[in-house]
Amino acid sequence: MSKRIFSGIQPTGIIHLGNYLGAIKNWVDLQYKYDCIYCIVNYHAITIPQEANILAANVMDLAATLLAAGLDPERCTLFVQSDVPEHTELSWILTCLTPVGQLERMTQYKDKSQGQNADSIGAGLLCYPILMAADILIYKAEGVPVGQDQTQHLELTRDIARRFNNTYGETFPEVEGIFTKAAKVMALNEPTKKMSKSIPGSYIALTEEPDSIRKKIKRAVTASDADSEQMPPGVANLFTLLESFAPQEVVDRFVQEYAAQTIRYAELKEAVAEHLIAGLTPIRERYQALKEQPEQIKAILSRGAEQARKIAQANLQEIKEKVGLKYY
Ligand code: TRP
Repeated sequence: MSKRIFSGIQPTGIIHLGNYLGAIKNWVDLQYKYDCIYCIVNYHAITIPQEANILAANVMDLAATLLAAGLDPERCTLFVQSDVPEHTELSWILTCLTPVGQLERMTQYKDKSQGQNADSIGAGLLCYPILMAADILIYKAEGVPVGQDQTQHLELTRDIARRFNNTYGETFPEVEGIFTKAAKVMALNEPTKKMSKSIPGSYIALTEEPDSIRKKIKRAVTASDADSEQMPPGVANLFTLLESFAPQEVVDRFVQEYAAQTIRYAELKEAVAEHLIAGLTPIRERYQALKEQPEQIKAILSRGAEQARKIAQANLQEIKEKVGLKYY
């Protein structure tokens, strides 16, 4: 039996190139090596206010995007968090094992709650990492592919697991982060910042139309503010994209031209745009086809939930017994 991997992604709208090259592409590769369980974490999404119909639509949209990007329901388990109630059940048990102080010290919590009145932020924001720990531990997963920004949350997961094991007996394995060297994609119009859906003009959606891709790449910032020797961040970003989508000889040619200072950025941009379009077109087409068959998406998600639930139920049973919640 291969090692079990778990990861989650929030359904918060647009999936862009940064999400794809930073995470999703990795998920696709991992499904060929491990027993992978992937979850659309809609309970995490409601830690900040959401419009109900938009949240629901975002889940379907994200599922279509992930499938179009290459997640294969024959090779991995893909499901929606709210379809497997064991996550939230375990989350409560773990909440009772977690010190408030440790939650209050989480960087992400501090960032998100900063400047906010304690009476106006939901406790869900504080307890967010416990639910994440429950997501992972309910499957006794050992590997968790995540971005560096999640290391502190994984640390907390390990602490909680250890505390549980010490209190109730050996139950959970040691959890490790899987930090594969993913490409870090920067904002096209502000290349010192990460590509983000909250910076307009900064991103290219995974399902973006070719004309729009051309326009956005054409407008990408290449100039550098300082007269430094280094490659301007916007140019480095174009190279990142080229390396992700073009064959090596194309990359080599532009690298040489850059070194010889004969490079023409208009040509570099054209190459980036055309290779991006070639790489993304099959994804966009699969996405569009899936969106026309919501029944098929729903069937995949409910089969995924069923598979996940089998494991989650058995593990929760064991956990409840250990905690004394089975009384007959
Ligand atoms: N917190 C993660 C993020 O924002 C999403 C997430 C929720 C997750 N549960 C998880 C990631 C479990 C890995 C494992 O990216």
